[in-house]
Amino acid sequence: MKNIVVLVSGGGTNLQALIDAQESGVIKGGKITCVISSKPGVYALERAKYHHIKSRVIARKEYGDVVEYSTAILEALQEEKADLVVYAGFMTILDELVIKAYPYKMINVHPALIPSFCGKGYYGLRVHEEVLKKGVKLTGATVHFVTEVCDGGPIILQKAVEVESSDTPEVLQKRVMEQAEWKILPQAVSLFCEDKLEVKNEIVYIK
Ligand code: GAR
Repeated sequence: MKNIVVLVSGGGTNLQALIDAQESGVIKGGKITCVISSKPGVYALERAKYHHIKSRVIARKEYGDVVEYSTAILEALQEEKADLVVYAGFMTILDELVIKAYPYKMINVHPALIPSFCGKGYYGLRVHEEVLKKGVKLTGATVHFVTEVCDGGPIILQKAVEVESSDTPEVLQKRVMEQAEWKILPQAVSLFCEDKLEVKNEIVYIK
């Protein structure tokens, strides 16, 4: 059984999708053993508590620079014996010292079809605001491995979602979550835990 550590910063609906998938037996070969939040008091922590999952708060604002913060996160991941680290709405960019310690063992869910609407500054509702400003007709979500390049790591799964002319950022965000993120994130986690993901030359192959 692989130890899955989930990093969160907010409401935790993607964490909930993982918990639901785990409880219904969809995630094979792994178990969520710890949730780490970069912010105290967020609802994701309540979700962990309700499902008897250990949680820790490592508050970003208590650390000066990113290296100091990343060192604290790395120590926690090692203490928790993480085999897989999942960014589920984790809004902090970590230093490469963490990423190098978990090569192709960290995955992120992004609320757009990478390489569109991604990179520094594209997070949360802002992504959907930009999608609507541009007038694209299809958006979606991407699950990818985390590398030193923000939102630039090898793509594991993607799912497209239609944009409607009456959409607000909030309405579109909800549709992307329901139709894409909450589906492909648990799928990707399960594939990883079953050792079905192989990366060759930055391309992910599903075995
Ligand atoms: C999700 O839409 C997730 O894809 C996004 O933030 C939201 C968090 O919601 N993440 C990013 O934008 C990271 N670049 P949640 O806390 O309810 O899972």
